[in-house]
Amino acid sequence: MNTLFGPDVYLDDIERQGYTVIHNALIADLVNDLVADCHRINPHFSLAGIGRLNNLQIDKTIRTDKTYWFDGSSQAQLTYQAIMQSIKTTLNRSFFMGLFDYECHYAKYTQGDFYKKHLDAFKGRSNRVFTTVLYLNTPEQGGELVIYKPKSKEVEITIKPTAGTLVMFESERFAHEVLPAVDERYSIAGWFRKNASISGIIDPPR
Ligand code: OGA
Ligand code: MN
Repeated sequence: MNTLFGPDVYLDDIERQGYTVIHNALIADLVNDLVADCHRINPHFSLAGIGRLNNLQIDKTIRTDKTYWFDGSSQAQLTYQAIMQSIKTTLNRSFFMGLFDYECHYAKYTQGDFYKKHLDAFKGRSNRVFTTVLYLNTPEQGGELVIYKPKSKEVEITIKPTAGTLVMFESERFAHEVLPAVDERYSIAGWFRKNASISGIIDPPR
């Protein structure tokens, strides 16, 4: 496996506080391969939307980063998704969370790009249970992730993006924002989802 950490590292944190920050979560080779993959698909990054499917909107007052949804087109993506599947299994075993799916995208922030304070779980359809963010590079300045205390304007923690650091938090509990980038910033944002079944129609992945 490509992870350097075992479940004991993050399960305690999640149980106690609902989030965890794991440094050096992946071996450097995999992080490098993911960065190379970002460069490969660089022309295909597009302005990120807010909302889902037919309700997707582009609003540049809320976020200006560019994203690329994983499509399984590289070994690095497949390996990353396999690691997330194993984390999903561990979370389900430990917390009976009923997670059934994982979706993720690369995100690219260039100078001045930001993502204002938000929650990742969508209104009326909050099937995103757990957020993951993996940083692929280490910008010298800018692009910090600020996580707020639940239902509060107080900051819980400010995280400086660092290559190989994995952050995970409960999607409905923690509002968060990405401060304006100064240096280029690459990451993978992802979500463990539970099955949101509406009128017996099973919510398809993405
Ligand atoms: C997101 C997000 C945080 C980060 O994409 O929803 O909040 O640090 N990302 O990139
Ligand atoms: Mn978010």
